[in-house]
Amino acid sequence: MPKQLIVAIDGPSGAGKSTLSRCVAQVLGYLNIDTGAMYRCVALAAQRQGVDPSDAQGLARLSRSVRIRFTPSATGERVLLDDVDVSDAIRTPEVSLLTPKVAAIPAVRDAMVAQQRKMGEKGGVVLEGRDIGSVVFPAAEVKIFLIATAEERGRRRFAELTAKGVQIDLARTIAEIKERDRLDITRTHSPLVKSADAIEIDTTGLTIDQVQQRILQIVQNQNRIC
Ligand code: DC
Repeated sequence: MPKQLIVAIDGPSGAGKSTLSRCVAQVLGYLNIDTGAMYRCVALAAQRQGVDPSDAQGLARLSRSVRIRFTPSATGERVLLDDVDVSDAIRTPEVSLLTPKVAAIPAVRDAMVAQQRKMGEKGGVVLEGRDIGSVVFPAAEVKIFLIATAEERGRRRFAELTAKGVQIDLARTIAEIKERDRLDITRTHSPLVKSADAIEIDTTGLTIDQVQQRILQIVQNQNRIC
């Protein structure tokens, strides 16, 4: 039986991490851990409990008390916050805006990283985020760093939202992607960074299937070594 590996998938917003992590985890029969969803859960809890985004201590306390779990379902993985399904509630524009502020607080990151390590330590997991290969699991057997141009990522986001009937402007969507990159790259604690041993895949112009095949090939090669 092949070893249960830790697969780390990092990269900026819109590079395809969520879709690919989900697909790869499904093919391998691994648990998919969306670490961005965990920071979103803390932001949602703060919003619901009226904790101010500038109250670092309050947010730290909150992040240590929340219980976040992922459970597979017919419609994909669901995110449970204190046993309540918040998979949709964590995707609102308000929560998306609040999350980078919450994720920049060192004590919040420490609490989330501790939970992520606990969930992933036995292997058989695909974790997606910004700091998985660099901080959470620097010894992960497979480290992928997905990138794509800001224009391509903006176009993908635009297509996704317009398909849902949301009226948005393409230029603004691209500008927002660039702003999120700036926040992710310049934050002092665990900024988005490609670790030296991660394999970079530029997804610009590639289909999901093409990228998925490349990742699965990398996992297969690693399985032969382990
Ligand atoms: O991937 P996402 O858009 O759901 O991430 C939400 C926010 O959380 C985004 O601002 C980046 C941040 N994040 C992080 O700081 N570290 C991670 N491991 C994952 C996400």
